[in-house]
Amino acid sequence: MNITIIGTGYVGLVTGACFSEIGHSVTCYDIDKSKIQNLKKGKVPFFEPNLKDFVNKNIISKNLSFSSSINTALKNRFIFICVDTPDDGKGKPNLTNLNNVIDAIASKLSQDSIIIFKSTVPVGTNKIMQNRLRDKVNGKFNIDVISNPEFLREGSAINDFMRPDRIIIGADNPKSSRKLANLYKPLSRKMDKMFFTSLNSAELIKYASNSFLATKISFINEIAEIAESFDADINDIRLGMGLDQRIGKDFLYAGLGYGGSCFPKDINALINAQKISKSTSLIVDATKKRNTLALENFEKKILKHCKGNKKKKSLTIWGLSFKPNTDDIRESLAVKLITKLHKKFCNIYCYDPEAGKNVKYFFRNYQNIKIISNPYQNISNSNALVICTEWKEFWNPNYEKLSMLKDNLIFDGRNILDKDDLKKYKLNYYGVGTKSVES
Ligand SMILES: NC(=O)c1ccc[n+]([C@@H]2O[C@H](COP(=O)([O-])OP(=O)(O)OC[C@H]3O[C@@H](n4cnc5c(N)ncnc54)[C@H](O)[C@@H]3O)[C@@H](O)[C@H]2O)c1
Repeated sequence: MNITIIGTGYVGLVTGACFSEIGHSVTCYDIDKSKIQNLKKGKVPFFEPNLKDFVNKNIISKNLSFSSSINTALKNRFIFICVDTPDDGKGKPNLTNLNNVIDAIASKLSQDSIIIFKSTVPVGTNKIMQNRLRDKVNGKFNIDVISNPEFLREGSAINDFMRPDRIIIGADNPKSSRKLANLYKPLSRKMDKMFFTSLNSAELIKYASNSFLATKISFINEIAEIAESFDADINDIRLGMGLDQRIGKDFLYAGLGYGGSCFPKDINALINAQKISKSTSLIVDATKKRNTLALENFEKKILKHCKGNKKKKSLTIWGLSFKPNTDDIRESLAVKLITKLHKKFCNIYCYDPEAGKNVKYFFRNYQNIKIISNPYQNISNSNALVICTEWKEFWNPNYEKLSMLKDNLIFDGRNILDKDDLKKYKLNYYGVGTKSVES
């Protein structure tokens, strides 16, 4: 099948590369011309495991191509919209890019088309866009809009796309739904992953799913706080809870909270939808508040245990991306924490296996925030280590080198270090919801 992707970012490029890998002929379009130029040469603009290989392999096999021409892009009947829908700063999704796409394609559609929204959008948006497009083509062609929300996780996006738990297809026209399901058939031969529903329900499934996962994180962070006051251990509590299959172990890790380009904005969007519809937001609102509190509590812990004149003290921060295996720093809690801490401390030395470049650019105007290329580079000039993102290379660190920290202090925002090792090296350790180690 011939497919067009509009918006070649994290979701669009993964979608395009994966559809081409399963034999479809895919054209990716983006408004950013330099991005398209680089992609034509096989240069992927961000880090996502295995994506570069997929892209290059399918460029060579001619299943995947890139174009800056909207006319070329619209020659295909299946058009996936994957543009960003960021928070507008007031808790509502900013639909400017999406509206621009609809305006750009509305007057240029020249055949029956199925427009598939992967972008996460407020409930009712797909319907509005379908009406707009149908009005514009004025009955000359059949235009159906389908809501097909995306659930991939950055860091394991290829695997998530190729082995989906579910493929949600929300539409008015069952014929078009079946055509879309057919595109996905190699990923669900028995069709058992497909779930067919209405446009509005599909949109709400996306928001409800992200908000539920975020709620699990906020819930365990709430329990972490009480666990600390009673000297209980949140890691044991998580495991004990998770043995009940109705609860499960996933998404119950205490720490700094959730970040990233999706959870915070999608939770805001759901709260906004609740306001508009005059329905009550108790749980979702509390999830958001608890997430803010989790970071505040962690910052307080750092300030409390870093004794003395902080202006003379420096910190090393490990993990800058919003989660491991990505260079994405959108709504990264590490970045939020650094933004607070750099005003209080002397130097902040920041290390990440992939996101250093993005963070360097983000903090380009701040003299005391320095990106280091080796995690131990400035360890003997630092008073404390703060772990913000649980990259695999941090789980078994070189404790001998860490014992060079001037104040022997480690703040573990993801509870990944081993307490026995810490004791052996006389390091003072503060995690989240777990007993501290003080030598
Ligand atoms: N990133 C994720 O993990 C993820 C997961 C599930 C769903 N989503 C949703 O998918 C959507 C895309 O997210 P993303 O992270 O891929 O965004 P992104 O910022 O990585 O990519 C968006 C792309 O759209 C392009 N674009 C913007 N306006 C355009 C226009 N008018 N015409 C053509 N291209 C245009 C941008 O240049 C950019 O390349 C969002 O709605 C997001 O909520 C994201």
